[in-house]
Amino acid sequence: MAYVRKDVSTLTSTERRRFVKAMLEIKRRGEYDEFVRMHIEHYVADGEGGLRTAHMTPSFLPWHRQFLIELEKALRRVDASVSLPYWDWTRDRTASSAPWTADLLGGNGRSRDRQVTTGPFAYRTGNWTLKEGVTDGKFLTRDLGRARDPIALPTRSDLEGALSDPVYDVSPWDSTAARGFRNKLEGWGSGRGSAAWRTHNRVHRWVGGAMVGGASVNDPVFWLHHAFVDLQWQRWQRRHSVHRYLPARPPAAGHAQHGRVVARNQKLPPWNLTPDQLEDVSRIYRYA
Ligand code: CU
Ligand code: CU
Repeated sequence: MAYVRKDVSTLTSTERRRFVKAMLEIKRRGEYDEFVRMHIEHYVADGEGGLRTAHMTPSFLPWHRQFLIELEKALRRVDASVSLPYWDWTRDRTASSAPWTADLLGGNGRSRDRQVTTGPFAYRTGNWTLKEGVTDGKFLTRDLGRARDPIALPTRSDLEGALSDPVYDVSPWDSTAARGFRNKLEGWGSGRGSAAWRTHNRVHRWVGGAMVGGASVNDPVFWLHHAFVDLQWQRWQRRHSVHRYLPARPPAAGHAQHGRVVARNQKLPPWNLTPDQLEDVSRIYRYA
């Protein structure tokens, strides 16, 4: 039977405790850092060569959908009652609201070095030492809202701007696609500075610290953020039910994106699955 992903602000204290405990256990087993590594490996920008599976690409949504399912499998091997909660950043918009509480993800980083010192993922607990993709600090960092150069979380209407687009994605299938649900949600904008970070991307920037860049998985909020992003894909699918993942077929030889994006029925590395197979996951989980 399908399990349920809940809004993080509605979790009971028992659910919060069990989620945290399962996260710490997969970290202890070394499984968590494999997820961090996998994300770094697939963090290919469209300025680089080769196939893009995870970012700046149509398969941004199915890639992260399967990535979350894999983490959930690891969590549920530890505790079968656990599922990923989602963070609705259109509602919980401050540094003191869910999920930034001491019994869940802990709070903001301190001003001196942005080190997270509260909650179960604070460095001094000894349970959450960063091992992958870090240059100097081994501790989790956050700069919620960006103290020195403030930005706001995306709003419900920003999200609506993406959800109202009936077309999944458009050529050139990269970070410059001006139309299409996928890039409006992934959030590569034009221009410089904070205007260029929209929706999904803007949330990474708002959290700051470890959440910026390929090693963003080091902050457990990554999963709560991406569960909410995944919920938006499901909402879009329901609203535009005759529309599907695009491109339906691989870009032709000669097209600049030939061999660089995953079409609907092509395998989506590192998994033996296609975007087509990931469009309907209702047998695995649903959102409350
Ligand atoms: Cu990612
Ligand atoms: Cu992301």
